[in-house]
Amino acid sequence: MFFREGLARIGKFSTPHGDIETPTVMPVINPNLNFLTKEELKSIGVQAVITNSYIIKRTASLEQDALKHGVHRLINFDGPIMTDSGTFQSYVYGDIEYGNKEIVQFQKDIGSDIITILDIFTKPQDSYEQAKAAVYETSRRLQEVNTPDSIIAGPIQGSIYPDLRRESARLMSEASYLPIGGVVPLLESYRYSDLVNIIINSKLNSDFSKPVHLFGGGHPMFFAFSVLLGVDIFDSASYIKYAKDNRVLYTEGTRNLKEIRDFPEWSPLFNKYSPVELIKADEKTRLKLLSLHNLKAIFNEITEIKERIYENTLYQYVEEKSMAHPALYRAYLEMLDHNLEPFWNISLKSPLYFFNSSTYKNTFIKRLVKFTEDYISNGKKTVLVSYRQWRHGFPVSDDILRSYETTDYNFLIEWNDIFIPMELENTYPVSQMVPSGVLDKIYRDDYIAWLKSINNDISFYDPSITGSEKIRNYSHSKINEVFHLQFKARKNLFVNSDKIIKSKATGHIRNIKRGEKIIATMRNDGFLTLSIYGGKLLNDMLDFPASRVIVTDDSGEFNSQGYNVFFKFVEDCDREIIAGNDVMVTSASGDLYAVGHATVSGKEMGFYRNGIAVKVHEGIN
Ligand code: GUN
Repeated sequence: MFFREGLARIGKFSTPHGDIETPTVMPVINPNLNFLTKEELKSIGVQAVITNSYIIKRTASLEQDALKHGVHRLINFDGPIMTDSGTFQSYVYGDIEYGNKEIVQFQKDIGSDIITILDIFTKPQDSYEQAKAAVYETSRRLQEVNTPDSIIAGPIQGSIYPDLRRESARLMSEASYLPIGGVVPLLESYRYSDLVNIIINSKLNSDFSKPVHLFGGGHPMFFAFSVLLGVDIFDSASYIKYAKDNRVLYTEGTRNLKEIRDFPEWSPLFNKYSPVELIKADEKTRLKLLSLHNLKAIFNEITEIKERIYENTLYQYVEEKSMAHPALYRAYLEMLDHNLEPFWNISLKSPLYFFNSSTYKNTFIKRLVKFTEDYISNGKKTVLVSYRQWRHGFPVSDDILRSYETTDYNFLIEWNDIFIPMELENTYPVSQMVPSGVLDKIYRDDYIAWLKSINNDISFYDPSITGSEKIRNYSHSKINEVFHLQFKARKNLFVNSDKIIKSKATGHIRNIKRGEKIIATMRNDGFLTLSIYGGKLLNDMLDFPASRVIVTDDSGEFNSQGYNVFFKFVEDCDREIIAGNDVMVTSASGDLYAVGHATVSGKEMGFYRNGIAVKVHEGIN
């Protein structure tokens, strides 16, 4: 099973010294000053560490030791070790004495699992020309050393220039591992909004099958944001840096050791040491214990983030985090201004929290509004049903339908101060939403004005109108509109003679049948799951390759029998596929093998090689 939300994912990355489950953090180990044991590291949840090959190489004793016994013995860690190259030192101290080929070869010689090239650090204040030159030189250096027998990390550079980040992401995607570099100064000065921009531009133009690492992104405050935007791995030196300053780390920030009453319950120091004892202890002991505590704080946040992805509440968590600091709130708004819609699932397991007018920028709402625009573009008269009129008889009262010659009208219902197609009343997020009621009435007026700019015949529902009994079959228009939303089609899959079976307990639609055959089932999120019969109807209706995942003939034979589709057998697909939505599994010539739901979006599908691409509900055989 592939757990994901937005661009966040729970993944697995294999190295010669074992697998790494992401998202995770690699603590920075200073080979000169290595005071946590591998048992201590592992007890906290550390899977992999990062150390610096340049520091090792320029210290004769370390260099000899590493060449003789390997880097794993040198720093006494038997899991995956990533090594950095000296780029950061050259950024801080100026030129270093080794070249790219030399430092990469050295990393190979000491048995590093993930080897970093000597990239050029692009600073936020770099001119466009400087940053551009660095991007191309970094790419050249990757070409110079990239071999399939090692895991090579190729950092994405480009300063704060979006097009350079995009270009760098495309160029560096040839590497097996993709750090985002040149961001430390931005992290240190709380420029999270610039970071959001950099991460999005880098991620969306990179190879999605590869792990993305945020170089130096070690403070837990920004983890959730980064993970939602596609970062898999962080490194952190901050746990030691803070310990040196007697600062105690929490997920929300730091406190001074001298000013705290006690360690929190989750701390490895709780009930063992008091802050006063630690202040009195010798420096080495204090540094070790505080580092351990700080690292635990960092891993707590990772554990929470993984749980959030699993539970589908990471977006909500980011929304919460955005209130921890004004700079984070700005970053949150920056994120909402990007079009991430193609990467958002069809629905989430958790309800949507409607806070205030900024929620209108939520991806699910943007989707809903876009659909509403299409829905009222049919030129029919449009009737707006206020919240009170609508709630009066939920689900939508027959009175509303009876009073108009309804086949001639679109009905929009009021929902959080916007108006959306009545037929979507039971789909995510319309019915799975928790409102605050704190809305901006100005927005409502603007929204109505916007609707009127699309459809010039819009009026409010008038209960005194009594029309003929030309009632449309509401359940049928409901399933057809859900179908339109899901499959981006304007044709109707369902005809009036199709039989709709509803749940006796809730009155909600459950199955749609034609004769004795089930066409589709309505899921709890209000979207449709197709049977293979429904898939056949859809395959005849939609132009190829819409909503198709095209697989090899060998795979097709398996999928026909109801087995899942694996990524490595996917030959092509519709790029517009939404994760979690139903798709048809077909041959290149369009023959139907199976129906199922896509585990990832059409934009990502072509990149992955391992795991399930389509969870098949039913095969043709
Ligand atoms: N450490 C922090 N930032 C960077 C970067 O941009 N490149 C490398 N190689 N290491 C880093």
